Amino acid sequence: MILALLSQILNVLGIISQVHWSSQTDYFTAAVYEHVRLGNDDPFQITIQKNLALYAEVTGRAAAAGADIIVFPEYGLCKGKSTRHENRKILEHIPNPYKENWNPCVQKEKFRDRPILTKLSCIAKVNGIVLVANMGDLQPCQISQDPHCPSDGEYHYNTNVAFGRDGTLLARYHKMHLFFETTYNIPSTPEYAIFNTDFGVMGMFICFDIIFEDAMKLVKDYGVQTVLFPTWWFDELPFLAAHQFQEAWSLGLRVNLLAANMHQPSVGTLGSGVYSGTQGVLNYTHIPDGKPKLLFAKLPKNPHKWHFKNNIQPRPIPLQDRFKSSFFEYDKNALKENFYLAVFKGIRNVKDHYFWCEEVCLLAACRSQKSNQCSSFPTTTKTIFTKIKLSGNFSTRYVYPNVLTSSLYLQPLAKWTFSMSHQLKELVTMPTLTDPVLSANLYGRCYDRDPMYRT
Ligand SMILES: *[C@@H]1O[C@H](CO)[C@@H](O)[C@H](O)[C@H]1NC(C)=O
Ligand SMILES: *[C@@H]1O[C@H](CO)[C@@H](O)[C@H](O)[C@H]1NC(C)=O
Repeated sequence: MILALLSQILNVLGIISQVHWSSQTDYFTAAVYEHVRLGNDDPFQITIQKNLALYAEVTGRAAAAGADIIVFPEYGLCKGKSTRHENRKILEHIPNPYKENWNPCVQKEKFRDRPILTKLSCIAKVNGIVLVANMGDLQPCQISQDPHCPSDGEYHYNTNVAFGRDGTLLARYHKMHLFFETTYNIPSTPEYAIFNTDFGVMGMFICFDIIFEDAMKLVKDYGVQTVLFPTWWFDELPFLAAHQFQEAWSLGLRVNLLAANMHQPSVGTLGSGVYSGTQGVLNYTHIPDGKPKLLFAKLPKNPHKWHFKNNIQPRPIPLQDRFKSSFFEYDKNALKENFYLAVFKGIRNVKDHYFWCEEVCLLAACRSQKSNQCSSFPTTTKTIFTKIKLSGNFSTRYVYPNVLTSSLYLQPLAKWTFSMSHQLKELVTMPTLTDPVLSANLYGRCYDRDPMYRT
Protein backbone atom coordinates (compact mmCIF):
# COMPACT_ATOMS: atom_id res chain seq x y z
CA MET A 1 0.00 0.00 0.00
CA ILE A 2 2.66 2.43 1.06
CA LEU A 3 4.75 1.39 -1.90
CA ALA A 4 1.85 1.83 -4.29
CA LEU A 5 1.36 5.31 -2.92
CA LEU A 6 5.06 6.06 -3.22
CA SER A 7 5.16 5.01 -6.82
CA GLN A 8 2.14 7.20 -7.54
CA ILE A 9 3.90 10.13 -5.97
CA LEU A 10 6.98 9.39 -8.05
CA ASN A 11 4.84 9.24 -11.19
CA VAL A 12 3.35 12.63 -10.44
CA LEU A 13 6.82 14.07 -9.85
CA GLY A 14 7.86 12.59 -13.17
CA ILE A 15 5.09 14.46 -14.94
CA ILE A 16 5.93 17.73 -13.21
CA SER A 17 9.58 17.34 -14.13
CA GLN A 18 8.73 16.73 -17.74
CA VAL A 19 6.68 19.91 -17.91
CA HIS A 20 9.53 21.78 -16.27
CA TRP A 21 12.04 20.41 -18.76
CA SER A 22 10.02 21.21 -21.82
CA SER A 23 11.67 24.60 -22.28
CA GLN A 24 14.42 24.45 -24.93
CA THR A 25 17.06 25.95 -22.70
CA ASP A 26 16.82 23.09 -20.20
CA TYR A 27 18.03 20.59 -22.76
CA PHE A 28 21.18 19.90 -24.69
CA THR A 29 22.03 17.57 -27.55
CA ALA A 30 24.63 14.87 -27.16
CA ALA A 31 26.35 12.66 -29.71
CA VAL A 32 28.24 9.44 -28.97
CA TYR A 33 30.27 7.56 -31.55
CA GLU A 34 30.64 3.80 -31.60
CA HIS A 35 33.85 3.48 -33.53
CA VAL A 36 35.44 0.90 -35.82
CA ARG A 37 39.13 1.72 -35.65
CA LEU A 38 40.88 2.25 -39.00
CA GLY A 39 44.37 1.22 -40.07
CA ASN A 40 45.11 -1.32 -37.34
CA ASP A 41 47.95 -2.85 -39.37
CA ASP A 42 49.56 0.45 -40.36
CA PRO A 43 52.52 2.04 -38.55
CA PHE A 44 51.10 3.75 -35.45
CA GLN A 45 51.47 7.31 -36.82
CA ILE A 46 49.34 6.40 -39.82
CA THR A 47 46.75 4.64 -37.65
CA ILE A 48 46.42 7.72 -35.47
CA GLN A 49 46.22 10.05 -38.47
CA LYS A 50 43.51 7.99 -40.13
CA ASN A 51 41.39 7.87 -37.01
CA LEU A 52 41.85 11.57 -36.27
CA ALA A 53 40.71 12.35 -39.81
CA LEU A 54 37.64 10.21 -39.21
CA TYR A 55 36.97 11.95 -35.87
CA ALA A 56 37.06 15.29 -37.73
CA GLU A 57 34.53 14.11 -40.28
CA VAL A 58 32.21 12.55 -37.66
CA THR A 59 32.38 15.64 -35.42
CA GLY A 60 31.42 17.76 -38.42
CA ARG A 61 28.32 15.63 -38.90
CA ALA A 62 27.47 15.80 -35.19
CA ALA A 63 27.82 19.59 -35.10
CA ALA A 64 25.71 19.95 -38.23
CA ALA A 65 22.98 17.97 -36.46
CA GLY A 66 23.10 20.42 -33.55
CA ALA A 67 25.13 18.42 -31.04
CA ASP A 68 26.65 20.35 -28.14
CA ILE A 69 29.04 17.56 -27.23
CA ILE A 70 30.54 14.46 -28.81
CA VAL A 71 32.16 11.52 -27.00
CA PHE A 72 34.61 9.07 -28.61
CA PRO A 73 35.57 5.67 -27.14
CA GLU A 74 38.60 4.35 -25.29
CA TYR A 75 41.54 3.30 -27.51
CA GLY A 76 39.73 4.87 -30.46
CA LEU A 77 42.85 6.42 -32.04
CA CYS A 78 45.20 3.46 -31.70
CA LYS A 79 45.21 0.17 -29.86
CA GLY A 80 47.56 -0.18 -26.90
CA LYS A 81 50.97 -1.73 -27.63
CA SER A 82 52.16 -4.75 -25.70
CA THR A 83 55.36 -3.33 -24.23
CA ARG A 84 55.89 -0.12 -22.32
CA HIS A 85 58.66 0.89 -24.70
CA GLU A 86 56.45 0.43 -27.80
CA ASN A 87 53.42 2.00 -26.18
CA ARG A 88 55.44 5.08 -25.24
CA LYS A 89 55.44 6.09 -28.91
CA ILE A 90 51.70 6.65 -28.97
CA LEU A 91 51.70 8.92 -25.88
CA GLU A 92 51.85 12.69 -25.69
CA HIS A 93 52.57 14.93 -22.73
CA ILE A 94 49.20 16.42 -21.72
CA PRO A 95 49.60 19.66 -19.73
CA ASN A 96 47.63 20.25 -16.53
CA PRO A 97 44.42 22.08 -17.50
CA TYR A 98 43.56 22.85 -13.87
CA LYS A 99 46.62 25.07 -13.38
CA GLU A 100 46.80 26.98 -16.65
CA ASN A 101 44.75 27.47 -19.82
CA TRP A 102 45.93 25.56 -22.83
CA ASN A 103 44.59 25.76 -26.36
CA PRO A 104 46.71 23.55 -28.62
CA CYS A 105 44.91 24.69 -31.79
CA VAL A 106 45.73 28.32 -31.01
CA GLN A 107 49.17 27.69 -29.43
CA LYS A 108 50.37 25.67 -32.41
CA GLU A 109 54.07 26.37 -31.82
CA LYS A 110 53.99 25.10 -28.25
CA PHE A 111 52.22 21.93 -29.29
CA ARG A 112 54.22 21.29 -32.46
CA ASP A 113 55.44 17.96 -31.03
CA ARG A 114 51.91 16.88 -30.01
CA PRO A 115 49.83 16.26 -33.12
CA ILE A 116 47.00 14.43 -31.32
CA LEU A 117 46.26 17.23 -28.86
CA THR A 118 46.56 19.82 -31.64
CA LYS A 119 44.18 18.00 -33.96
CA LEU A 120 41.56 17.23 -31.28
CA SER A 121 41.62 20.84 -30.10
CA CYS A 122 41.17 22.08 -33.68
CA ILE A 123 38.30 19.65 -34.33
CA ALA A 124 36.47 21.03 -31.28
CA LYS A 125 37.21 24.64 -32.28
CA VAL A 126 36.27 24.36 -35.94
CA ASN A 127 32.95 22.77 -35.01
CA GLY A 128 32.24 24.85 -31.87
CA ILE A 129 31.52 21.67 -29.93
CA VAL A 130 32.71 20.09 -26.68
CA LEU A 131 34.78 17.03 -27.56
CA VAL A 132 35.85 14.11 -25.36
CA ALA A 133 38.42 11.57 -26.56
CA ASN A 134 40.78 9.00 -25.12
CA MET A 135 44.56 8.90 -25.66
CA GLY A 136 47.79 8.22 -23.78
CA ASP A 137 49.52 10.71 -21.48
CA LEU A 138 53.23 10.81 -20.62
CA GLN A 139 54.24 12.63 -17.43
CA PRO A 140 57.91 12.79 -16.44
CA CYS A 141 58.68 12.19 -12.76
CA GLN A 142 61.76 12.31 -10.48
CA ILE A 143 62.79 8.97 -9.06
CA SER A 144 64.77 10.72 -6.34
CA GLN A 145 61.81 12.80 -5.15
CA ASP A 146 58.75 10.70 -5.91
CA PRO A 147 58.58 7.22 -4.34
CA HIS A 148 55.87 6.14 -6.82
CA CYS A 149 57.84 7.23 -9.90
CA PRO A 150 58.42 4.23 -12.23
CA SER A 151 62.02 3.18 -12.86
CA ASP A 152 62.09 4.76 -16.33
CA GLY A 153 61.23 8.15 -14.81
CA GLU A 154 57.85 8.47 -16.52
CA TYR A 155 54.23 7.92 -15.73
CA HIS A 156 52.20 6.51 -18.59
CA TYR A 157 48.46 7.01 -18.25
CA ASN A 158 45.36 5.86 -20.11
CA THR A 159 43.71 9.28 -20.37
CA ASN A 160 40.54 11.14 -21.35
CA VAL A 161 40.80 14.69 -22.62
CA ALA A 162 37.93 17.16 -22.96
CA PHE A 163 38.12 20.25 -25.18
CA GLY A 164 35.77 23.23 -25.06
CA ARG A 165 33.96 24.84 -27.99
CA ASP A 166 36.95 27.16 -28.57
CA GLY A 167 39.51 24.36 -28.44
CA THR A 168 40.64 24.96 -24.84
CA LEU A 169 41.69 21.88 -22.89
CA LEU A 170 38.98 21.73 -20.20
CA ALA A 171 39.87 18.54 -18.37
CA ARG A 172 42.19 15.57 -18.23
CA TYR A 173 41.43 12.28 -16.51
CA HIS A 174 43.82 9.39 -15.79
CA LYS A 175 42.20 5.95 -15.63
CA MET A 176 42.17 4.55 -12.10
CA HIS A 177 41.07 0.98 -12.76
CA LEU A 178 43.17 -0.52 -15.47
CA PHE A 179 41.93 -3.84 -16.85
CA PHE A 180 45.04 -5.94 -17.60
CA GLU A 181 46.66 -2.89 -19.24
CA THR A 182 50.11 -3.69 -17.97
CA THR A 183 52.05 -0.94 -19.73
CA TYR A 184 50.10 1.84 -17.98
CA ASN A 185 50.36 3.33 -14.47
CA ILE A 186 47.56 4.42 -12.21
CA PRO A 187 47.62 7.77 -10.42
CA SER A 188 48.61 7.52 -6.76
CA THR A 189 45.47 9.37 -5.66
CA PRO A 190 42.05 9.06 -7.29
CA GLU A 191 41.25 11.81 -9.77
CA TYR A 192 37.83 13.34 -10.11
CA ALA A 193 37.64 15.06 -13.47
CA ILE A 194 34.91 17.67 -13.24
CA PHE A 195 34.31 20.63 -15.51
CA ASN A 196 31.66 23.20 -16.35
CA THR A 197 30.02 23.71 -19.71
CA ASP A 198 27.14 25.85 -20.92
CA PHE A 199 25.00 22.70 -20.54
CA GLY A 200 25.88 21.73 -17.00
CA VAL A 201 28.53 20.08 -14.85
CA MET A 202 30.37 17.23 -16.57
CA GLY A 203 32.42 14.45 -15.03
CA MET A 204 34.30 11.63 -16.73
CA PHE A 205 36.03 8.31 -16.26
CA ILE A 206 37.04 5.32 -18.37
CA CYS A 207 35.66 1.81 -18.95
CA PHE A 208 36.36 -0.49 -15.94
CA ASP A 209 36.24 2.55 -13.61
CA ILE A 210 32.43 2.41 -13.79
CA ILE A 211 32.40 -0.72 -11.61
CA PHE A 212 34.09 0.99 -8.66
CA GLU A 213 33.27 3.41 -5.88
CA ASP A 214 35.01 6.52 -7.25
CA ALA A 215 32.66 6.54 -10.25
CA MET A 216 29.68 6.62 -7.90
CA LYS A 217 31.32 9.29 -5.71
CA LEU A 218 31.82 11.52 -8.73
CA VAL A 219 28.03 11.73 -8.98
CA LYS A 220 27.11 11.59 -5.33
CA ASP A 221 29.73 13.89 -3.81
CA TYR A 222 30.62 16.27 -6.63
CA GLY A 223 27.28 17.29 -8.12
CA VAL A 224 28.05 16.00 -11.59
CA GLN A 225 24.96 16.08 -13.84
CA THR A 226 26.33 14.36 -16.91
CA VAL A 227 29.00 11.64 -17.05
CA LEU A 228 31.13 11.14 -20.17
CA PHE A 229 32.23 7.57 -20.59
CA PRO A 230 34.71 6.41 -23.24
CA THR A 231 34.97 2.63 -23.04
CA TRP A 232 36.19 -0.56 -24.68
CA TRP A 233 33.89 -3.03 -22.97
CA PHE A 234 33.53 -6.79 -23.25
CA ASP A 235 29.90 -7.87 -22.88
CA GLU A 236 29.13 -10.24 -20.05
CA LEU A 237 25.72 -11.67 -19.22
CA PRO A 238 23.64 -11.65 -17.09
CA PHE A 239 24.59 -8.26 -15.56
CA LEU A 240 27.37 -6.61 -17.47
CA ALA A 241 26.57 -6.37 -21.17
CA ALA A 242 27.80 -2.91 -22.20
CA HIS A 243 24.51 -1.10 -22.83
CA GLN A 244 22.78 -3.05 -20.06
CA PHE A 245 25.10 -1.82 -17.34
CA GLN A 246 25.32 1.67 -18.83
CA GLU A 247 21.57 2.06 -18.48
CA ALA A 248 21.48 0.45 -15.03
CA TRP A 249 24.22 2.71 -13.67
CA SER A 250 22.63 5.88 -15.05
CA LEU A 251 19.28 4.90 -13.60
CA GLY A 252 20.59 3.78 -10.22
CA LEU A 253 22.44 7.07 -9.72
CA ARG A 254 19.92 9.27 -11.56
CA VAL A 255 22.54 10.92 -13.69
CA ASN A 256 23.01 11.48 -17.43
CA LEU A 257 25.47 9.08 -19.04
CA LEU A 258 27.02 9.44 -22.50
CA ALA A 259 28.69 6.13 -23.25
CA ALA A 260 30.86 5.60 -26.35
CA ASN A 261 32.16 2.09 -26.93
CA MET A 262 34.41 0.58 -29.57
CA HIS A 263 32.72 -1.66 -32.12
CA GLN A 264 34.41 -5.03 -32.42
CA PRO A 265 31.67 -7.68 -32.26
CA SER A 266 34.13 -10.55 -32.82
CA VAL A 267 35.46 -10.06 -29.27
CA GLY A 268 32.11 -9.06 -27.74
CA THR A 269 32.76 -5.32 -27.81
CA LEU A 270 29.78 -3.22 -28.83
CA GLY A 271 26.98 -1.22 -27.21
CA SER A 272 26.87 2.56 -26.72
CA GLY A 273 24.15 4.95 -25.74
CA VAL A 274 22.72 8.08 -24.16
CA TYR A 275 20.88 7.59 -20.87
CA SER A 276 19.20 10.06 -18.57
CA GLY A 277 18.70 8.81 -15.04
CA THR A 278 15.05 8.13 -14.23
CA GLN A 279 14.10 8.72 -17.87
CA GLY A 280 16.09 5.63 -18.75
CA VAL A 281 17.57 5.00 -22.16
CA LEU A 282 17.15 7.77 -24.74
CA ASN A 283 19.09 6.22 -27.59
CA TYR A 284 21.40 3.24 -27.81
CA THR A 285 22.94 0.74 -30.17
CA HIS A 286 23.93 -2.89 -29.76
CA ILE A 287 23.97 -4.16 -33.33
CA PRO A 288 26.83 -6.53 -34.30
CA ASP A 289 27.01 -5.52 -37.97
CA GLY A 290 30.63 -4.34 -38.07
CA LYS A 291 29.60 -0.75 -38.80
CA PRO A 292 30.35 2.45 -36.84
CA LYS A 293 27.36 4.34 -35.42
CA LEU A 294 26.77 7.98 -34.58
CA LEU A 295 23.93 8.37 -32.08
CA PHE A 296 22.14 11.50 -30.96
CA ALA A 297 19.82 12.34 -28.12
CA LYS A 298 18.36 15.44 -26.54
CA LEU A 299 18.55 15.30 -22.78
CA PRO A 300 17.87 17.46 -19.73
CA LYS A 301 20.85 19.41 -18.39
CA ASN A 302 19.87 18.49 -14.90
CA PRO A 303 18.56 14.94 -14.58
CA HIS A 304 16.15 14.30 -11.75
CA LYS A 305 18.69 13.30 -9.17
CA TRP A 306 18.30 11.36 -6.01
CA HIS A 307 19.51 13.21 -2.93
CA PHE A 308 21.44 10.56 -1.08
CA LYS A 309 22.56 12.91 1.63
CA ASN A 310 19.02 13.35 2.93
CA ASN A 311 18.59 9.63 3.33
CA ILE A 312 18.36 8.11 6.74
CA GLN A 313 21.36 5.98 7.64
CA PRO A 314 20.22 2.34 7.38
CA ARG A 315 20.37 0.34 10.58
CA PRO A 316 22.38 -2.90 10.30
CA ILE A 317 20.26 -6.07 10.06
CA PRO A 318 21.54 -9.61 9.49
CA LEU A 319 21.61 -10.75 5.88
CA GLN A 320 18.90 -13.41 6.11
CA ASP A 321 16.33 -10.88 7.20
CA ARG A 322 17.11 -8.18 4.81
CA PHE A 323 17.72 -9.90 1.53
CA LYS A 324 14.92 -12.07 0.27
CA SER A 325 11.56 -12.21 -1.42
CA SER A 326 10.95 -12.05 -5.09
CA PHE A 327 7.88 -12.73 -7.04
CA PHE A 328 6.93 -13.27 -10.59
CA GLU A 329 3.87 -14.26 -12.54
CA TYR A 330 3.79 -16.13 -15.76
CA ASP A 331 1.52 -18.07 -18.00
CA LYS A 332 2.58 -21.70 -17.47
CA ASN A 333 1.97 -22.53 -21.10
CA ALA A 334 4.14 -19.65 -22.12
CA LEU A 335 7.20 -20.82 -20.20
CA LYS A 336 9.35 -22.22 -22.97
CA GLU A 337 12.76 -22.51 -21.39
CA ASN A 338 14.62 -22.63 -18.11
CA PHE A 339 14.60 -19.55 -15.98
CA TYR A 340 16.42 -19.14 -12.71
CA LEU A 341 15.59 -16.90 -9.85
CA ALA A 342 18.72 -16.26 -7.86
CA VAL A 343 20.05 -14.13 -5.07
CA PHE A 344 23.73 -13.76 -4.44
CA LYS A 345 25.89 -11.83 -2.08
CA GLY A 346 29.62 -12.11 -2.16
CA ILE A 347 32.83 -11.24 -3.90
CA ARG A 348 33.08 -11.41 -7.67
CA ASN A 349 36.41 -12.80 -8.85
CA VAL A 350 37.69 -11.93 -12.34
CA LYS A 351 40.53 -14.28 -13.28
CA ASP A 352 41.88 -14.24 -9.71
CA HIS A 353 42.93 -10.68 -10.30
CA TYR A 354 40.09 -8.23 -9.87
CA PHE A 355 37.55 -8.50 -7.06
CA TRP A 356 34.45 -6.61 -6.01
CA CYS A 357 31.44 -7.07 -3.75
CA GLU A 358 28.06 -7.83 -5.31
CA GLU A 359 24.60 -8.16 -3.83
CA VAL A 360 22.22 -9.23 -6.54
CA CYS A 361 18.73 -10.46 -7.21
CA LEU A 362 18.24 -11.99 -10.63
CA LEU A 363 15.67 -13.61 -12.86
CA ALA A 364 17.34 -14.93 -16.01
CA ALA A 365 17.05 -17.47 -18.75
CA CYS A 366 20.00 -19.80 -18.37
CA ARG A 367 21.28 -23.18 -19.37
CA SER A 368 22.76 -25.89 -17.22
CA GLN A 369 25.45 -28.35 -18.12
CA LYS A 370 25.35 -31.59 -16.13
CA SER A 371 25.80 -30.69 -12.48
CA ASN A 372 26.71 -27.13 -13.33
CA GLN A 373 23.49 -25.25 -12.78
CA CYS A 374 22.85 -22.10 -14.72
CA SER A 375 26.29 -21.99 -16.27
CA SER A 376 25.61 -20.14 -19.49
CA PHE A 377 23.21 -17.48 -20.62
CA PRO A 378 21.40 -17.53 -23.97
CA THR A 379 20.94 -14.28 -25.89
CA THR A 380 17.44 -15.06 -27.16
CA THR A 381 14.29 -16.34 -25.46
CA LYS A 382 10.66 -16.96 -26.27
CA THR A 383 9.03 -16.62 -22.85
CA ILE A 384 6.74 -13.69 -22.16
CA PHE A 385 6.07 -12.93 -18.51
CA THR A 386 2.82 -11.27 -17.58
CA LYS A 387 4.54 -9.68 -14.62
CA ILE A 388 7.91 -9.71 -12.91
CA LYS A 389 8.44 -8.14 -9.56
CA LEU A 390 11.81 -8.31 -7.86
CA SER A 391 12.17 -6.76 -4.46
CA GLY A 392 14.89 -6.97 -1.93
CA ASN A 393 16.09 -5.26 1.18
CA PHE A 394 19.68 -4.60 0.26
CA SER A 395 22.44 -3.78 2.67
CA THR A 396 23.83 -1.33 0.12
CA ARG A 397 21.98 1.69 -1.17
CA TYR A 398 23.69 1.42 -4.56
CA VAL A 399 21.54 -0.83 -6.68
CA TYR A 400 21.56 -0.76 -10.48
CA PRO A 401 18.39 -2.18 -12.06
CA ASN A 402 17.94 -3.59 -15.53
CA VAL A 403 15.56 -5.49 -17.81
CA LEU A 404 16.85 -7.10 -20.98
CA THR A 405 14.60 -8.70 -23.57
CA SER A 406 15.42 -11.28 -26.23
CA SER A 407 18.41 -10.33 -28.43
CA LEU A 408 19.66 -8.00 -25.66
CA TYR A 409 17.17 -5.20 -26.24
CA LEU A 410 16.67 -2.47 -23.66
CA GLN A 411 13.12 -1.41 -22.91
CA PRO A 412 11.84 2.12 -22.26
CA LEU A 413 10.91 2.90 -18.68
CA ALA A 414 7.25 3.06 -19.64
CA LYS A 415 7.42 -0.75 -19.63
CA TRP A 416 9.03 -1.27 -16.23
CA THR A 417 9.71 0.68 -13.10
CA PHE A 418 12.35 0.90 -10.44
CA SER A 419 11.78 2.32 -7.01
CA MET A 420 13.85 2.59 -3.89
CA SER A 421 12.89 3.46 -0.40
CA HIS A 422 15.61 3.05 2.19
CA GLN A 423 16.81 -0.52 1.88
CA LEU A 424 13.96 -1.82 -0.22
CA LYS A 425 14.65 -1.81 -3.95
CA GLU A 426 11.98 -2.94 -6.33
CA LEU A 427 11.72 -3.63 -10.04
CA VAL A 428 8.30 -4.24 -11.59
CA THR A 429 7.44 -4.90 -15.22
CA MET A 430 4.26 -3.49 -16.77
CA PRO A 431 1.73 -5.45 -18.85
CA THR A 432 2.97 -3.43 -21.83
CA LEU A 433 6.22 -5.38 -21.70
CA THR A 434 5.28 -7.93 -24.32
CA ASP A 435 8.74 -8.91 -25.57
CA PRO A 436 10.28 -12.17 -24.36
CA VAL A 437 12.46 -11.53 -21.34
CA LEU A 438 16.12 -12.51 -21.11
CA SER A 439 16.84 -11.16 -17.65
CA ALA A 440 15.58 -8.79 -15.01
CA ASN A 441 17.94 -7.88 -12.24
CA LEU A 442 18.81 -5.70 -9.30
CA TYR A 443 22.58 -5.44 -9.30
CA GLY A 444 23.76 -4.11 -5.94
CA ARG A 445 27.29 -2.90 -5.39
CA CYS A 446 28.52 -3.14 -1.81
CA TYR A 447 31.46 -0.79 -2.40
CA ASP A 448 32.22 -0.65 1.31
CA ARG A 449 33.21 -4.33 1.26
CA ASP A 450 35.35 -4.26 -1.88
CA PRO A 451 38.76 -5.84 -1.42
CA MET A 452 41.67 -3.54 -2.18
CA TYR A 453 42.08 -2.96 -5.93
CA ARG A 454 45.43 -3.91 -7.40
CA THR A 455 46.70 -3.42 -10.94
C1 LIG B 1 19.15 7.91 -32.26
O1 LIG B 1 20.25 8.12 -33.12
C2 LIG B 1 19.91 7.85 -34.46
C3 LIG B 1 21.17 7.82 -35.27
O2 LIG B 1 21.78 9.06 -35.29
C4 LIG B 1 18.92 8.90 -34.94
O3 LIG B 1 18.59 8.68 -36.29
C5 LIG B 1 17.68 8.80 -34.08
O4 LIG B 1 16.79 9.81 -34.41
C6 LIG B 1 18.04 8.89 -32.60
N1 LIG B 1 16.88 8.57 -31.81
C7 LIG B 1 16.41 9.37 -30.87
C8 LIG B 1 15.23 8.86 -30.10
O5 LIG B 1 16.88 10.46 -30.63
C1 LIG C 1 12.05 -5.38 3.84
O1 LIG C 1 12.13 -4.98 5.19
C2 LIG C 1 10.89 -4.51 5.70
C3 LIG C 1 11.16 -3.97 7.12
O2 LIG C 1 11.97 -4.81 7.84
C4 LIG C 1 9.88 -5.66 5.70
O3 LIG C 1 8.64 -5.21 6.17
C5 LIG C 1 9.71 -6.15 4.25
O4 LIG C 1 8.87 -7.27 4.21
C6 LIG C 1 11.07 -6.52 3.65
N1 LIG C 1 10.86 -6.78 2.24
C7 LIG C 1 11.49 -7.74 1.59
C8 LIG C 1 11.19 -7.85 0.16
O5 LIG C 1 12.30 -8.49 2.13
